Amino acid sequence: MALITTKEMFKKALVNDYAVGAFNVNNMEIIQGIVDAASIENAPLILQVSAGARKYAKPAYLLKLVEAAIEDTGLDIALHLDHGEDFDICKKCIDDGFTSVMIDGSKHPFEENIALTKQVVEYAHAHGVVVEAELGKLAGVEDNIKVDARSATFTDPDEAVEFVERTGVDSLAIAIGTSHGAYKFKGEPYLDYERLKKIHSLLPDTPLVLHGASSVLKEFVDRCNKFGGQIPGAQGVPEEMIRESTKYGICKVNIDTDLRLAMTAEIRRILIENPSEFDPRKYLGPGRDAITKMVQHKIKNVLNASNQR
Ligand code: G3H
Ligand code: 13P
Ligand code: ZN
Repeated sequence: MALITTKEMFKKALVNDYAVGAFNVNNMEIIQGIVDAASIENAPLILQVSAGARKYAKPAYLLKLVEAAIEDTGLDIALHLDHGEDFDICKKCIDDGFTSVMIDGSKHPFEENIALTKQVVEYAHAHGVVVEAELGKLAGVEDNIKVDARSATFTDPDEAVEFVERTGVDSLAIAIGTSHGAYKFKGEPYLDYERLKKIHSLLPDTPLVLHGASSVLKEFVDRCNKFGGQIPGAQGVPEEMIRESTKYGICKVNIDTDLRLAMTAEIRRILIENPSEFDPRKYLGPGRDAITKMVQHKIKNVLNASNQR
């Protein structure tokens, strides 16, 4: 039981066609809910922290909570920085004891993305930490309307090969049609599997990462809306499409929005049905249980990662 890197996890996932869930965390209940699920499912686990989560909970609290989770469950866990935007935040997390960082240079031109990623890889590898980088831009809802926009924003397979060779990065996040949040598609959901297969065939040993992989399940959107929520038109990536992607090199699947929806639907229900309730444990506890259920479902039915620890 320790903080570990993703190296061995990804090696196994790559040859066995499953993916490791990378779940975003920012408080105690979310961490507990996720680790309980991974423990029950006996699954490999990545907990990831965004810059926003780091600011919200403070680095020291998050680190201690993850250490406590390891002690409590006996799990090996990879602790990952999600969407690090510059060298400085990656260095801080590496110095704090994270075992994995993402340097997200996807908004920069190709050569700048390479230079920034190389700088992080050099520092991280010297400290035994692995690095995820991103090439291509995740689609916005508007991009979905114009098919032409895809080739401009999605990951170019030949560039991916050059990027991995020149940076020495450990895993690569690619853009094939997903996007962050609850509004991913206006029309039919679409993932560019041909592009994914091409990238995987050119980089068979590189673990690929899928961001924006929440499915925004109707049941949870409906539950939120039933109790006064206003999230009309939300649409995620169907779960079978995520499952399919794990056959072509996707080893890490990032999920945040589905956890937010599950927890919020439950808390909203409790507070509306019991308006006189004011003990936070009475709604945060069930919120935590809702996270556990959702993560178990993802591990078992979407990522195919049960008993792969
Ligand atoms: O990809 C972004 C994650 O869902 C984290 O979101 O920046 O609101 O913490 P956040
Ligand atoms: P979702 O918003 O689809 O959950 O994506 C989360 C993510 O990619 C975190 O990096
Ligand atoms: Zn992301």
